[in-house]
Amino acid sequence: MQKFVIQGGRRLTGEIRVQGAKNSALPILAAALLCKGESCLENCPRLSDVFAACRILTGLGCRCRIDGETVTVRADPTETAIPEALMQEMRSSIIFLGAALGRMGACTLGYPGGCELGPRPIDLHLAGLRRMGARITEENGCLHCTAPGGLHGARIHLQFPSVGATENLLLAAVTAKGETILTNAAREPEIADLAAYLNRCGACIEGAGCSTVRVQGVGELTGCTYRIMPDRIAAATWLAAAAVTGGELCLRDADAQSLESFLDVLDQMHCRCIRMDDRICIAAARPLRAVRYLKTMPYPGFPTDAQAIVTAPLCIADGTSVVEESIFENRFRHTDALVKMGADIRIAGRAAVIRGVPGLHGAQVCATDLRGGAAMLIAALGAQGETVLTGLQHIDRGYDSPEHVLRSVGAGIRRE
Ligand code: EPZ
Repeated sequence: MQKFVIQGGRRLTGEIRVQGAKNSALPILAAALLCKGESCLENCPRLSDVFAACRILTGLGCRCRIDGETVTVRADPTETAIPEALMQEMRSSIIFLGAALGRMGACTLGYPGGCELGPRPIDLHLAGLRRMGARITEENGCLHCTAPGGLHGARIHLQFPSVGATENLLLAAVTAKGETILTNAAREPEIADLAAYLNRCGACIEGAGCSTVRVQGVGELTGCTYRIMPDRIAAATWLAAAAVTGGELCLRDADAQSLESFLDVLDQMHCRCIRMDDRICIAAARPLRAVRYLKTMPYPGFPTDAQAIVTAPLCIADGTSVVEESIFENRFRHTDALVKMGADIRIAGRAAVIRGVPGLHGAQVCATDLRGGAAMLIAALGAQGETVLTGLQHIDRGYDSPEHVLRSVGAGIRRE
């Protein structure tokens, strides 16, 4: 089992180029299934989730070629079933359903896997697809989905602005007959990135990134070359690493606008963040100041994916911070490891109460999920002494060679 061995206490200084966005690359890889011909996706991060998405595409009869950060997909599907093992590898396997129904008119798949953050139902996905004419039956945990006569447009209101449901319904709508209107759609920047790719392939989507999205179905889509947007959560991770080590970092390929709520929290912590077009520079404060109250919300609110990440520097901030997780039911699993490293964190319902301590110390800890593992990695960088972090399979789902990125700015970290 691989592990990171981290010698903490070193200030991080220098420049990092931010990887392409995992949560944009995955839906865009699913969208490539809809397109005839070839799609060339640039700035695609080298992640186990991306490799899993490519295995789903090849399992459906498509061809995927990975050359570094460029993935080329030729979508000539011959199959309609996604193997259970592949479905279990990640949450976003479910958004292949909308694309498969749009392209092949049928799909058989299991329930998705992904980080254990609490129950992660797909009721909003299935309800929306049924409104568009999909027939979906469940048998022994397997979903049998067909679209007899093809999908048709519909007016769909999402009870919750679910990112995955918004993406799935967009993928189903772009080649459905007629107009689809999504209301209370998710507004995350990755939705707009997906729509930009689809529109470049010939789709007709208006309003992506806003609460109401209109889609006019078109006959067919043709693949194109597209550059994936920067990963805002990876950027937040490196900024938090600078904060916890009292360092100074500049991030290249970082879209400050998509991270405004996170940067605002760093400002509250007395860090100096300079926002430029495609760069963000941070000079960490010493000591950091606690944040009285922080609640995760759908975009443009504070991102749930950054909740664990920001907890690490808050552990050594001056004062007490309260962080409420409103999106997922079980997204504080990382706090036990931080307490083992000397943090003072108590969970009260949906909130974590973090009383700042003078410093953390190294420990042996194991990642529980992707962003919880990132939180442990960040804490270890700021801790005195050595930390051994296992459970790297979680971290490798979302970060492209994090040990190389961190070593390039002075971190003492090696993978064994
Ligand atoms: C996406 O997950 C992201 N994953 C998550 O990032 C992110 O945390 C989440 O959006 C919220 O921003 C990808 O994009 C691959 P949701 P998703 O549907 O689509 C409930 C990471 O670390 N819900 O917006 O699964 C659900 O239970 C990952 O990169 C329903 O009730 O998130 C949750 O409480 C983790 N029914 C809430 O909505 C549904 O049908 C948000 O889920 C769908 C969702």
